[in-house]
Amino acid sequence: MSTFSSTSLHQIGASHRKIPGFKKEYFWKIESPFLEAVRLTLGDRYTDNMDNIYRITIKFLIETVIRGYELAAEHEPNDNVKASNSTEGNSSKATKAS
Ligand code: HEM
Repeated sequence: MSTFSSTSLHQIGASHRKIPGFKKEYFWKIESPFLEAVRLTLGDRYTDNMDNIYRITIKFLIETVIRGYELAAEHEPNDNVKASNSTEGNSSKATKAS
């Protein structure tokens, strides 16, 4: 996996810090639907080997996105709290979204 790809996934994870009420655990919710979509798309071609490969792939993607979220949290620990509770600062988006 290239550095570019990993960095993009980190950025996606970090961007979810701005979503009010979002928890990093939510990223795992994409795992089963993703595998189901691959299974339906590949039909007969969804062999045990494919199953194995895609399970590893989605796990890696989600872990990397979560790592990006965590790195952003370490950098600015109160970002999520600010976004959900505050009426000042960068919360204009949060107010609209709720
Ligand atoms: C691996 C899983 C996921 C990926 C790859 C992903 C990717 C993205 C991307 C690329 C964007 C838009 C650009 C950005 O803000 O960075 C985005 C926005 C967003 N995502 Fe996700 N996302 C994932 C999981 C989730 C989950 C689980 C939720 C909610 C439970 C969620 C909620 C949102 C919301 C609310 C936005 C903002 C939409 C807006 O600005 O109107 N995402 N996501």
